[in-house]
Amino acid sequence: KLLVEHARQIVQVCACGERVLSGNSMKSVAVLEGAEGGYSVLVDRAGIIADLGKSDELATKYNREDVDNIIDATGKCVIPGLVDAHTHAVWAGDRVHEFAMKLAGATYMDIHRMGGGIHYTVNHTCAASEETLLSLLLNRMRQISQSGTTFVEVKSGYGLNLENEVKMLRVIDRARKVVPLEISSTYCGAHAVPKQTTAAEATQDILQTHIPHITSLVREGQLRVDNIDVFCEVGVFDVPQTRAILQAGKDAGMQINFHGEELNQLRSAEMGAELGAHAISHLEEVSPEGIAAMARSGTVAVALPTTAYMLRLRPPPVRDMIAEGVAVALGSDFNPNAHCLAMPVVMNLACVILHMSMPEALVAATINAAHALGQSAMHGSVEKGKWGNLLLLNAPTWEHLIYQLGCHNDVISAVIFKGDVVHQ
Ligand code: NIG
Ligand code: FE
Repeated sequence: KLLVEHARQIVQVCACGERVLSGNSMKSVAVLEGAEGGYSVLVDRAGIIADLGKSDELATKYNREDVDNIIDATGKCVIPGLVDAHTHAVWAGDRVHEFAMKLAGATYMDIHRMGGGIHYTVNHTCAASEETLLSLLLNRMRQISQSGTTFVEVKSGYGLNLENEVKMLRVIDRARKVVPLEISSTYCGAHAVPKQTTAAEATQDILQTHIPHITSLVREGQLRVDNIDVFCEVGVFDVPQTRAILQAGKDAGMQINFHGEELNQLRSAEMGAELGAHAISHLEEVSPEGIAAMARSGTVAVALPTTAYMLRLRPPPVRDMIAEGVAVALGSDFNPNAHCLAMPVVMNLACVILHMSMPEALVAATINAAHALGQSAMHGSVEKGKWGNLLLLNAPTWEHLIYQLGCHNDVISAVIFKGDVVHQ
């Protein structure tokens, strides 16, 4: 179907099958380079990588006439499509006015308590039609895809009541069928406590009404929901409430993937590890015991440098996590607070603010992010048998993608999703 040939570098982030790399070793990234004639990748008509290797060797194995599309990658680099492990991409009503408030000194929680923040977005999202939300989401998905992402997680969480949470999940499902990238969907009904209720009441509503209803829609084939999420934080949902919701979601077949230890150390990392969480996001305030528990349970840490940057938080202790053997992934956390859709920017911030190396950032934005979403068997690396999701970089070495801060259009020469060129 597609042959990308004569590439100067092919970057492989996973040389060991499904095993996920904790991102602490240079060996996590293997660069094929230096061969005369360069390297090639062949993707079959099902969108799966059929072969890769030296261009002259591939040329002897396959007949060029059988290939639908040949891309000359001379002087360019091939890396895996990027994976964004955390977004809130469905919403209406931006919060640029709150950015000004934060610059003037208000904290995230000051604004939340005043009825702004997530509540502001909930009001606008509930008032918006499904069609409006879909067109907003499709526009964002196009920008995410142009920035090199081929697999993205998208959460609900600005509906809070059942009707609007289901509306958001339906919007994600409809987008999934038409966008040129893969979506992992997350039910995040416990993203804030609805006005005029308590967290205890909201928890009961989620347990008794939301999860059973959503589960029945999933069983009837009307929705797909991959993960369950809760915002576990002081003034939102506490650890016992979070535990109950996550456990109910897990029992209903969803993967646990939640917001923990962002502004206060609540020991939710320990709780998540105990429940067998796939991933925990944020973790700015995680304890050493929490890190050790996550290492033992194999829970992925999803670091969100845009948020730490926007809110001027202490950055998550990524170096400690890596040293303890926790797999670290990256997400854009795109939402009205952190208005960033581009994973190359996120990788740059991860290197500068979180002190990750460029190979670590690439691993975190590909194979580890795919693993956070339970999909590392098919996503996150350039390997035979995986989806043909590739970025072609117009640069002499792959590191230029991270080095470039913004304006990636010249560096990203093509985005390939399942063997189709979706941007060029
Ligand atoms: O991951 N912390 C909670 N959720 C989002 C922010 C959502 C919002 O402010 O609208 C986050 O940063
Ligand atoms: Fe988030």
